[in-house]
Amino acid sequence: MTTKKQLPIGVVGLGMGQHHAWASLREPSVKLAAIAEPDEKRFNEFKSLTAKTLGKKIAEKLDKIPRFDDYKTMAKSGEVEAISIALPTDMHYEATRFCLQHGLHVICEKPPTTNAAQMVKLARIVYEKGLTYSFVRQQRFTPKMMACREMALKGTLGRVYHAESHWLRCRGIPFRGGWGVNKDTGGGVLLDLGIHQIDDAWFCMGNPVPEAVFGGMHCAFDYLAKGKKLSHPYNADDLSVGMVRFADGATLSLSTSFAMNRVHPEMLKKTIVPGSDWQELHVLGSHAGVDVYRGKMVANHPKGVSIKELPMSKKIANMTCGFEGLIADFAKAALTGEEPLNSARQAIQLMYMLEAIGKSAETGKAVPVKIVNL
Ligand SMILES: NC(=O)c1ccc[n+]([C@@H]2O[C@H](COP(=O)([O-])OP(=O)(O)OC[C@H]3O[C@@H](n4cnc5c(N)ncnc54)[C@H](O)[C@@H]3O)[C@@H](O)[C@H]2O)c1
Repeated sequence: MTTKKQLPIGVVGLGMGQHHAWASLREPSVKLAAIAEPDEKRFNEFKSLTAKTLGKKIAEKLDKIPRFDDYKTMAKSGEVEAISIALPTDMHYEATRFCLQHGLHVICEKPPTTNAAQMVKLARIVYEKGLTYSFVRQQRFTPKMMACREMALKGTLGRVYHAESHWLRCRGIPFRGGWGVNKDTGGGVLLDLGIHQIDDAWFCMGNPVPEAVFGGMHCAFDYLAKGKKLSHPYNADDLSVGMVRFADGATLSLSTSFAMNRVHPEMLKKTIVPGSDWQELHVLGSHAGVDVYRGKMVANHPKGVSIKELPMSKKIANMTCGFEGLIADFAKAALTGEEPLNSARQAIQLMYMLEAIGKSAETGKAVPVKIVNL
């Protein structure tokens, strides 16, 4: 940070928003100035978890922070200059629009919106009003991803021509009372896990320009909702796949699932497995490839291939990680007017890629990815 000013931020929704609040309590460039959460039980759980995570003294501070039942009252209160939104997915667009229109900088959970056209509308407000907007992708702020991205952008990997990205759960459906598995409320695995997985790969490749997408989406486990008293029917995708082709000829293959009847080698040790979750990300260049999550670099060797630890600069190795890194980057952008790393422009491209997977699954055809230059 170049400036000592703190950004007063209000956190909305204390599910995932707990992490936003903890990052805001830890990160010196930000001041947790307000909280909006209508559910008293959630707030009390958050307070006791804060005491366990950050200590009693910090948890006591929470009693002095203004609290609101609704994000709209908080946005109009004058207590905050920025809002961190962790509402259910189908509320993201309306809440972001409302806060931007009230002159506040916004950082919003993923997915930024439920469709690309909404994200374009938000981005127009952001750039017209000169505000800062960022979407939550805390995983970008990890040394391994940053190191891979840097090598891809500098050409150290040679020509980056393909990425393989998977987040697969054998049994791990986030029912979330119903909205998490309903396609009209922004549920489904593509918008939940797929957005992380496609973005991990896209980011590590250096954000090439997407051109076309072929995809498929499946809903196979709706019978597991029987007897669950969900607020919305289970009709969203629980397995999605996609292939993205970029303007430079590179490709990205994605697969993601909440549930599937498939084994991972680890699962073979047992006959009944309650649930299993695994992620893979491989970025392939003509000179070297990166196994991002394992932090390995693979390159040609006279005897086959050499496998080394992923090299990284001191700056990257010592960077502020995860939610704190993300909040710090957002605060820096809001305080200086610079573009944040997770920008509104990127959010548009990301939403168009995801939307194209959905369209391709419906039509059975490859779908061009729309490009909007703002
Ligand atoms: N970045 C990640 O790794 C990650 C992980 C999980 C979820 N998420 C995203 O976070 C978002 C929230 O997911 P969740 O699992 O926390 O959902 P959730 O339903 O558990 O929590 C949402 C919270 O918002 C509160 N709320 C509802 N209306 C409100 C209002 N008008 N004003 C203020 N608060 C209000 C609810 O009381 C609830 O506590 C989703 O969009 C999801 O995709 C991101």
